[in-house]
Amino acid sequence: MTSVQGRLTALTQSAFDAMGFDAALGAVLPSTKDGAPFQCNGAMAAAGALKKKGEKANPRDIAAKIVEALSAHDEFASLEIAGPGFINITPSDALINARAAQLADDARTGAPLTPEAKTIVIDYGGANVAKPMHVGHLRSAVIGESLKRLLRFEGHTVIGDIHMGDWGLQMGHLITELEDEQPDLSYFDGSVTSGYPAQSPVTMEDMARLYPAASAKSKADPSRLERSRVATAELQAGRAGYRALLDHFITESIKALKKGYGDLGVSFDLWKGEAAVDPLIPGMINDLTAMGITEEDDGALIIRVDDVAPAKEMAPVMLRASSGAVLYHTTDLATLIDRKTQINPDFILYVVDQRQALHFEQVFRAAIRAGWYTPDQLYHAGFGTMNGKDGKPFTTRGGGVLKLEDLLSMMHEAASERVKAAGMADKFGKDELEDITGKVAIAALKFADLQNQRMTNYIFDIERFTAFEGKTGPYLLYAAVRIKSILRKARAAGLDGGPINAAAPAEQNLILMLDSFEMALSVSTDKFAPHILCDHVYKLAQAFSRFYSDCPILADDTPEDVKASRLSLAALTLRQIELCLDLLGMEAPERM
Ligand code: ARG
Repeated sequence: MTSVQGRLTALTQSAFDAMGFDAALGAVLPSTKDGAPFQCNGAMAAAGALKKKGEKANPRDIAAKIVEALSAHDEFASLEIAGPGFINITPSDALINARAAQLADDARTGAPLTPEAKTIVIDYGGANVAKPMHVGHLRSAVIGESLKRLLRFEGHTVIGDIHMGDWGLQMGHLITELEDEQPDLSYFDGSVTSGYPAQSPVTMEDMARLYPAASAKSKADPSRLERSRVATAELQAGRAGYRALLDHFITESIKALKKGYGDLGVSFDLWKGEAAVDPLIPGMINDLTAMGITEEDDGALIIRVDDVAPAKEMAPVMLRASSGAVLYHTTDLATLIDRKTQINPDFILYVVDQRQALHFEQVFRAAIRAGWYTPDQLYHAGFGTMNGKDGKPFTTRGGGVLKLEDLLSMMHEAASERVKAAGMADKFGKDELEDITGKVAIAALKFADLQNQRMTNYIFDIERFTAFEGKTGPYLLYAAVRIKSILRKARAAGLDGGPINAAAPAEQNLILMLDSFEMALSVSTDKFAPHILCDHVYKLAQAFSRFYSDCPILADDTPEDVKASRLSLAALTLRQIELCLDLLGMEAPERM
């Protein structure tokens, strides 16, 4: 199966090749102007190449010869030369309709599977146990989930790992604060080393109270901080009661996170964290030392990474602080070993806040220096922040840290108002209304995030995100729902789809838009850029709108075969919109 663009490119490339030019000059691209849907700009470069060799060349003459050669093929309906030598290309009706038939027949609406299926780990989410989530975690979850779905759809085996932060000072804070509250628990009795209760002494709410309390006290009182530090070190050194508490903290957090992420439509295959790789650290440090790549530096143990190609001045990786504590670098390196032995992935993608770029560069360089991975196997897909109207990373109304549940309920509230303002409360029962509201809220939040180029910061604007008009998630849901309703009406009238025979410009334009899905997908996955897919689905919805207003489907005076063709086209469009929505992590309701 080849796209229309692909077929036109193949023909145009052989025309350039036959004239002795570089075949690549024959690339056919979607046109940037109204008029012909495609263009080829190769004649200018071809003339340039001749001039370099000292030959005379006029790009319009070259274009004319190419056009003459291409005219022999009935794939072209028209070929026009414009300006200095652009060739404007309109494909034939037959080519467009043949492609439409293929797309309509394909559950994937033209998206190919990769010929090179890989095993890929995506490290995303990254929430910390006990510490509240921030917008970075939200963005990581939303973008990571979409990239996971995109790569899976392309045919790769993808394993999503949340990689929780569960090995830092926050654990010492929790332990010591809990000890102050409930000193009699057996976990704190150094003489007890086993037989702890199976039931957690804390809930998620307790942790949400204990951590900030300890953290605030520690800011005011250095000795309080020191207690948390010591507890963290003892935990890391293996103190049994503390390890047992850690297990409770992690289990309780996972329960809460599963719910929060679940509500957001985000799921993970692995719920590992930093603590999980702790047992690997001593062996790893021995191995690295045996390789001769570690150095003692003021009591700390480091790996220099500035000489790893491309050489660049950079702080070293800290394997162990002079206090003996292991650090963020260390757990990430140990995680790389864990993944290598457990999964042996071809590629690992880290979807983490761009502010951690240096950290990942250091970790990757160390792993490369150790010979565990090659540079092409590790990639950090960073992203900017979601900001409040004040331009600073978004916080909740009171200025406090973000909680996923709070954000979701804000979105839900706003979606509920929109849905009511659109009159849906009168149209639907309570359950259906609730379902619609939830889907609108999620689509609003996710699309607002994903439609931005990853690295850019964007402003949290709930009014704009939830609008049913404009480039928003709710608009796309509405577009899908509208097609569902057309198809329902057709079914009720006993009408079926039939062969697609597009004649009107809006119909052909819609088919070409559907056909460009393949390209949008490949750019989205190659660049880890869901915003390209967002653009595609938005343009597709607009193309459908134009088609629907120009080309009546169910009107009485539409001939039966035209009705059937247009119904097939509508069904195909719906299938592709729903595929895109799913790849972005959202879902359209049946009715709205
Ligand atoms: N827990 C970290 C944080 O909150 C994010 C983890 C990202 N993943 C990783 N492998 N380091 O900043």
